[in-house]
Formats: sequence, C-alpha cells, structure tokens
Amino acid sequence: MSNLIVNPTPLMFAEEVSRALGCEVWIKRDDQTHPRYGGNKVRKLVPLLASACAHGVSDVLTLGAAGSHHVLATAVHATAMGLRVEAALVPQAPSPHVEAMLRASATQAAALHACTTFPGALLTLGLRSLALRARGRRPLIVPVGGSTPLGASGYLDAQVELAAQLSAAGLPSPDVQVCALGSGGTLAGLLAGRAVTGVGGEVWGVRVTPPFAVPALRVRSLARAVLRLRGSSAPVPTVRIYEGALGEGYGRPTDDARRARELFARDGVTLDDTYTAKAAAGLIALARRRPRRYLFWHTLSSAPLDPLLGPAALPPALRALLR
Ligand SMILES: Cc1ncc(COP(=O)(O)O)c(C=O)c1O
Repeated sequence: MSNLIVNPTPLMFAEEVSRALGCEVWIKRDDQTHPRYGGNKVRKLVPLLASACAHGVSDVLTLGAAGSHHVLATAVHATAMGLRVEAALVPQAPSPHVEAMLRASATQAAALHACTTFPGALLTLGLRSLALRARGRRPLIVPVGGSTPLGASGYLDAQVELAAQLSAAGLPSPDVQVCALGSGGTLAGLLAGRAVTGVGGEVWGVRVTPPFAVPALRVRSLARAVLRLRGSSAPVPTVRIYEGALGEGYGRPTDDARRARELFARDGVTLDDTYTAKAAAGLIALARRRPRRYLFWHTLSSAPLDPLLGPAALPPALRALLR
C-alpha cells in the first residue's frame, strides 16, 4: 500500500447482476481506491504525483469538463501532498452529480479557470505555466484525465494487482473485462497490464465520449507507450471498444444506462450517468450476446462528496459552465 492508494481494492461477486444476466459478473471495486476521494483517477495519480514530487514540482495544472472526476481527484490528492492545484474547465451538461463535483473542485483547488473549449483551456494553462515560472515556481501540466503513459501505467499495476488477487483466492481468470473509455488511460493501462500478466481474457472499453476524442489507434499507442515505459516488449492485446452505449453524447443519460444503474444498485453499487452506468450498459449488452465470466472495473469514487464541499455557492463564472 502506497500513501496515496488503498489497495488491493476489493473483488466482489455481483450476485444480483449475475442472476439477471445468467452468467458470472465480478466487480473490481476501484471506487474504493481512497476513502477521501477514490475511483480510477487515484491509480493514475500514484505514478504521476510520485514523479512530480521527485522532480520538485510546485504546482499541478490540469483540465477537464466542469464535473471532471480527474480534476477533483487531482485537487484533493495533490493538495494533500503539498502541491498547489489549478484547473481549466470547459462546459458540461448539468446534473446534481456534475454540480456537486464542480462545487467540490472549487473548494479543493487553489484556482479554477472557466473556459469555453479544450484548446482554450490548454492555452489558459500554458499562460498560467509561464506566469508561475516567471515567479520562480515549477508548474507541471497534466493532460486530460491524467492519461499520459506514466498515468496509464497505474492501470498496468491494477492488472498485476488483480492477477495476484485471483491467484490468492483460487479464482479463475475473467473471460471479459469491461471499463469505461473516456480519455483512454484506464483501458490502455489495463491492456498493457493484460499483456504483462498474461491473464484476464478480453479487455473492452465502453465508449462514453465521441469516437474522434480517443480512437482505437490512440488507445493502442498509449498501451504500447505504457509497456515501453515499463521495459516490456510484449505485444498489445486487441483493443476492443463497445460503441453502442454513448447515446446522444457525453454526459447525456440513456435508458440503457438507467436500467444498468438500477440493476447494479441491487448489489449495492452506485453508478454515474456519464461513465460507469454507460460502461455497465455495455457490459450487459456484451453479456446478453455472450454469457461468459465478466469483470467490471468500477471506476467512480464511492467516497461521500459532502466533506469536500465548501459552504460557498458557485461563483457565476463557474456556474455558467453548467450548460
Ligand atoms: C468515473 C470514471 N470512470 C471512467 C473514466 C474513464 O477513464 P479514462 O479517462 O482513463 O478513459 C473516467 C474518466 O474521466 C471517470 O471519471
């Protein structure tokens, strides 16, 4: 167990989901990677922040949509390690969850910058980086989702953790693993880890952002970069992407996702509309087609958000991002 992550995260048999689908479904509870704020972002922050601290970084600058889990995770955990965090945010369709995330980020980060587009957000961070350097500080820009080869390598480690867990419990390998595909780091790291461990079956990403955002080729080259970083020449396993869960777009709820949310809730697992419910809807569609042994990577933090929320209402510039 390193300082930042509480692992191994539990591996849970999803009784109700399995009964409904007529095949075994297991859940890797990465929602519990940290009691203060967990989810998949913590896995990527482990190598990213270790490297930042080793290189004397003073400020972490990052970006995402208004309700970004990555921005909040970075604000919570980098700040706890003594780093200053600023983030540039772009608009996201409103929901109670997205608004709570934005309020928590506004409380936890040193500064948030409201932007209209991702290129604009990157420009803002570039300018902030120059201004901080001029004051003698050492800022680091972390791309969307923390999905660099170094960040994604956290999911190679997750796959190694899973293989050890299966072996210790005498459990067979899953036939199919499923995760949400957003910025691609989670899927790429899992693929790299699958290549290294040699166990774990097929690895699928369920797309929750438009296809042009992260094409399969990008996932593949990121997985290859993760393997290279770890000194492995193992071939990248086939990149499998389920394309049927996005619906009308990023953050837009779908009926399938709502039904998936209701089914997983019967096993006590809470999913969100943007990522994990759509990923679960993808798993359900795959399992109906091919009932095999499935493993779902639960990537949404289950830590309560209330302790991270400040008393202040959102300033108008940030509230305007909810559109
Ligand atoms: C809860 C949750 N699950 C899954 C993902 C997708 O992970 P990745 O961006 O590594 O593809 C994200 C990305 O933001 C997320 O917030």
